[in-house]
Amino acid sequence: EALEKEGYDHFMLKEIYEQPRTIRDAMRGRISSKESRVALRGMEEFANRFVRANRIIIVACGTSYHSGLIGEYLIEDLARIPVEVEYASEFRYRNPILSEGDIVIALSQSGETADTLAALELAKKKGAMIYGIVNAVGSSIARLTDAGSYIHAGPEIGVASTKAFTGQVTVLTLLALSLARKLSTISNTYFQTLVRELELIPEKVEEILKENDHIKYIAGEVKDHHNALYLGRGYNFPVALEGALKLKEISYVHAEGYPAAEMKHGPIALIDENMPVYVTATNKSAYDKIVSNVQEVVARKGRVIAIVNKGEKAIAGIADHVIEIPSTEEPLTPLLSVIPMQLLSYHVAVELGKNVDQPRNLAKSVTVE
Ligand code: G6P
Repeated sequence: EALEKEGYDHFMLKEIYEQPRTIRDAMRGRISSKESRVALRGMEEFANRFVRANRIIIVACGTSYHSGLIGEYLIEDLARIPVEVEYASEFRYRNPILSEGDIVIALSQSGETADTLAALELAKKKGAMIYGIVNAVGSSIARLTDAGSYIHAGPEIGVASTKAFTGQVTVLTLLALSLARKLSTISNTYFQTLVRELELIPEKVEEILKENDHIKYIAGEVKDHHNALYLGRGYNFPVALEGALKLKEISYVHAEGYPAAEMKHGPIALIDENMPVYVTATNKSAYDKIVSNVQEVVARKGRVIAIVNKGEKAIAGIADHVIEIPSTEEPLTPLLSVIPMQLLSYHVAVELGKNVDQPRNLAKSVTVE
């Protein structure tokens, strides 16, 4: 086992550090900025159905559900196809309306999650086309679907998912870009900018990983709080949910993710000096609104840990701790902003002496319903 960890203390840390490579692997052969091309083979086969789809429904559980939410933002924003994202366990029991014009995409690291598998079986029975975005090659979901794309992240051992999340988001970005190209829903210039920026993501992730010591220091500062609030807007809202889930899973600290603007409808009542608030503020749109959200927190003595683009001054000036990350195009920001979240939860859990790779009560793959 020590050999497999390649010198890292935990599989989770190793998998966090693998991400520059695994993101590159998820893109390999599927993208070329030189040729201005994005193609997912699994999708190309059914391209006609995709471009004519009434609706795309994404079903998933856990971390995969959060990457599904990012997929919704990406596909709607870039390809203008309506998307819904559902917990597989809710979808399958609520008599969903489905027709042949619908495409159901399952996101799953293991390809074995019982609820996700059952949701797909139901969708197939109702005549929808079913597509899988899966890590485990030859898994049940991969075998059931009409078509799909592997994320090629390699085995993920840590129960808290990290590299599978960024792999799924990478493939969803490729899917959205390729559909946008076919449907001409974005300009050629913007398409090219996004493709070029996507190719740069692995090196930017590497840069963020260099902040590890700083993030570890922050983890030491916040580790004794029993609650945490994660805020984000737009593309960073699902990142807030994922940040909160990571902290819960491995450090057993109660955490909630919220759209930043919803804070005033409830969570603000909880804010005092004992509430660390993680704000992901790498968005270029609505940045002023995020600044005022942060001011609200500061005014109530909440402790703000902000993730901002390098050189950003407005939030950096008022936050207790700041993690700077390289900037990118807004639709790609989750691939970067999630990395500090993963590292923070990891270090908090280690500081608290928890079993990082095998947290209590959780399983890597949930094959019960
Ligand atoms: C379990 C794991 C999570 C994972 C979820 C969905 O809860 O602990 O890390 O996100 O299942 O798993 P899947 O394999 O379908 O992505």
